[in-house]
Amino acid sequence: MAAALPTSLRPLHQSFSPKCPCLSHHSQLRPSSSSLRFRFAVRASSVIALEADLSTQQQTQDVETNLFACPVCYEPLIRKGPPGLNSPAIYRSAFKCKNCDKSYTSRDNFLDLTLISGLKEYTEVRPAMTELFRSRFVSFLYERGWRQNFNRSGFPGPDEEFVMAQEYLKPTQGGILVDVSCGSGLFSRKFAKSGTYSGVIALDYSENMLRQCHDFIKQDRSLSAANLALVRADVNRLPFASGSIDAVHAGAALHCWPSPSNAVAEISRILRSGGIFVGTTFLRYNASTPIIFRRPRQGVLQNFNYLTEDEIEDLFTSCGLINYTKYVQRSFIMFSAQKP
Ligand SMILES: C[S@@+](CC[C@H](N)C(=O)[O-])C[C@H]1O[C@@H](n2cnc3c(N)ncnc32)[C@H](O)[C@@H]1O
Repeated sequence: MAAALPTSLRPLHQSFSPKCPCLSHHSQLRPSSSSLRFRFAVRASSVIALEADLSTQQQTQDVETNLFACPVCYEPLIRKGPPGLNSPAIYRSAFKCKNCDKSYTSRDNFLDLTLISGLKEYTEVRPAMTELFRSRFVSFLYERGWRQNFNRSGFPGPDEEFVMAQEYLKPTQGGILVDVSCGSGLFSRKFAKSGTYSGVIALDYSENMLRQCHDFIKQDRSLSAANLALVRADVNRLPFASGSIDAVHAGAALHCWPSPSNAVAEISRILRSGGIFVGTTFLRYNASTPIIFRRPRQGVLQNFNYLTEDEIEDLFTSCGLINYTKYVQRSFIMFSAQKP
């Protein structure tokens, strides 16, 4: 059977030790949900007929190994190391793109899947809204007061925002959720703890935010074995194959992205059919803001991409998302949309 598999899948079956079963019967990543089987069909539809009678465990190995894709060419990465979506397993694994002959490894407890991962000479300075959150100081302060300030603009607060997001995401339960621009993992940890998803990926561009996230996870024993992976990536270049992800959450993030249109297009690309994107941001103004207080789109000191309600809906529609809904409270907006 293995000989009939495409070469990109073959090493996967050969590299896992039988002593290291992919997932235990108690693992949340066991393919109890139809979505995992669906994802398998999306990634390897030509393989599925050949694989139809493979054991459930083998199918899970494929799903897991192919979850991350090369940010250069979007080909699924080959993984060598212990299986599982939890941080220790990811940390001890090596990932390689056979197409680009490029390797990706973990540093400081997160897997670096940026285009600049492992580069020695080239460094990149991103726009101010991205660089601000890379600072150690801001990353440290983020959950220690910075985020609470958002309440003054109408944000209900993380507990309530989480409950609202879960409601929108209900159709994706049991699947893989990517918490894009997770910061220090405020929501990623809640999603992982909820047990609603087979796996949660906390993804951010900021190394220091991801370090904070790792520290918070270490302090919470209930998260030690959770299927919660920490990944460094750029929202403009998400390291997942097209149509492979069930749910994307992006809390208080859209206004920080260098190009909201690139980012929403990327999110739309990685979502599977029926997948859901839910997020929040600050509005540039809302219906009750007097005209004289409405901020211009771009000012001299305007580094954030604050959009209006109509601009957000327009953007989502132009990126091919449907069933757009929103909830607005002063400058706070929670939006959701679905991949057709
Ligand atoms: C205001 S924080 C939001 C954190 C968290 N999601 C929340 O709800 O509080 C915005 C995050 O966007 C991230 N970010 C900025 N530019 C990014 C990019 N190009 N790719 C991925 N994340 C980015 C920042 O590092 C920061 O952690």
